[in-house]
Order: sequence, then C-alpha cells, then structure tokens
Amino acid sequence: MTDAKLIDGTVFSGKLRETIASRVAEMKGKHRITPGLAVVLVGEDPASQVYVRTKGKRTVETGMNSFEHKLPADTPEDSLLLLIDSLNKDPAVHGILVQLPVPKHIDTQKVIEAIDPAKDVDGFHPVNVGRLAAGMDALVPCTPLGSLLLLKDNLGKLGGLDAVVIGRSNIVGKPMAQLLIRESCTVTIAHSQTRDLPSVVRRADIVIAAVGRPEMIKGDWIKPGATVIDVGINRIDLPDGKTRLVGDVDFASAVKVAGAITPVPGGVGPMTIACLLRNTLVACARQHNLPEVEF
Ligand code: GUN
Repeated sequence: MTDAKLIDGTVFSGKLRETIASRVAEMKGKHRITPGLAVVLVGEDPASQVYVRTKGKRTVETGMNSFEHKLPADTPEDSLLLLIDSLNKDPAVHGILVQLPVPKHIDTQKVIEAIDPAKDVDGFHPVNVGRLAAGMDALVPCTPLGSLLLLKDNLGKLGGLDAVVIGRSNIVGKPMAQLLIRESCTVTIAHSQTRDLPSVVRRADIVIAAVGRPEMIKGDWIKPGATVIDVGINRIDLPDGKTRLVGDVDFASAVKVAGAITPVPGGVGPMTIACLLRNTLVACARQHNLPEVEF
C-alpha cells in the first residue's frame, strides 16, 4: 500500500490568509472599516509568548489592526476584567482573545464570560457554545474550524461518514463533534474512559486526535484509507538531549495505513491562526451589519 496523502496545513492556511487579506482590503476600501483584533497575555509563559507574537504578526500581514496587551503574571483578576470591559466597548476592536492558560489566581470561566459574545473570536463564551450546538450562526473555536476546513478540502462532502473524535475538551473535542454533526457525520466522542479505544477508532472514516498524549494513536488502530487529523502538539525529549514536536498520532505507522493525514508540525497548527483571522473578519462584518463573509 502506498503512503497516505499529506494534508498540508501550511499551504492551505497561506491561501486562506490571502483570501482574508483581500476581503480586509475590500472592507477598508468600500466601508472605511479596518477589522481589529485585541490579544491579551497575562504572564510570561514562553509558549504563549510565541503564539501571541505570531498572532500579532499574522494579523498585521492580513491588513487588520493588532492590539496587544501584555500584563504581569500577578495582575489581579479585577484589573483583567476591567481591561476586557474596555475592549468590549472599544469600536476599533472587533475580536478579543485572552491567551489561555491564565495564572491560577484568575478564574478562567469568569474571563471567558466577561468577553462580549459578538467579539469572542475564540468561540469559548457559553453563548457561542450554545449557538453552535443549536445549529445557529456562532463564532466557532479556531482549531476545530481549521480541522474541518482541511477535512472538507480533502474529502468534499462529509455526510454519512463515521467520525471519531478522541478527546472531549471544550476547546477542541466538543466543538469538533458539533461541527461534524452539522456536516451530517455519525460522530463518536472517545475519551480516557472509553473501552477498547483501538476498536472504536478502527470503525472511523475520519479520526480527529485531540488527547494531548504523544504518539498514542497507532497505525494498526486506523481503518485503511481513513482521513486522520492530528490536533496534538507535544514536545518530546530525544535520547541525544534534543527535543522534537510530535502529534497524538504515531505518524510513522499511521502514514502506512491512512488515506490522508496531517503532519505535525505543518498540519492543523497553522490553520488555527488563519481561522482566528477569519473569525475576526466575520465578527467585524456582523458588528457592522455587513453581508456575511463566506469561506
Ligand atoms: N491557548 C492554547 N490554544 C488557545 C486558543 O485557541 N485560544 C486561547 N485563547 N488560548 C489558547
């Protein structure tokens, strides 16, 4: 059997960002509106700093305004909530993202619920969670949305396909399942207490791996020809003292069985930021009662 087709998220996200940039240019030219994204980082977590820097760079490249707010790790919860309130009221800000995780003394759920649902480009606010579940227009979490775009690009219509989502987080697993239901897939959500996970995965035409355990899903769990989307990004130590990024799927064995598979890095990762920019543009259009932007 030949190896699986590689699903290139770097190329796909680059094209998506180009489309977004042209819509932004149109919005600026026709309507004199520049979409704006505010990103808030509390503390100095190195991985979060890298994400925030990349988000800011991509936002500006797309022609949008980027507003970065970097707060010290000991920022009181009240001060963060006040900042969110001022961003909610700022007409130049169409999207607000508070980088997670926040320091332990801050209540994450309170922060999520403080963001105006219309500006909630992460799609984490209960209003957006509910709207997605009810099949209404919603701002949809970026990683599942990016995964869905890759799936549709690769498979076309998804209706009737068996999909297994491994992981039930609010950020990926649950919204991913909702999106796949909306596409008329038959969806199973597997998690740490699922019995005989390999046999559950073996039924699936679509496998979404979002458990956060390096290389856990093995090639002999995959149905031949299945499409595998690996959301995991895990840094592992190598015997020579170096480190390497790997996904939740054991790529070396899975690539021999799957029909198509996302690599790590270069698969889902770059799609997340592209979808954040897409959500910012969509939020901006809705806030100004402009026609819905389709992607
Ligand atoms: N930290 C890791 N992923 C995410 C994300 O998608 N959104 C936010 N706000 N923080 C994150």
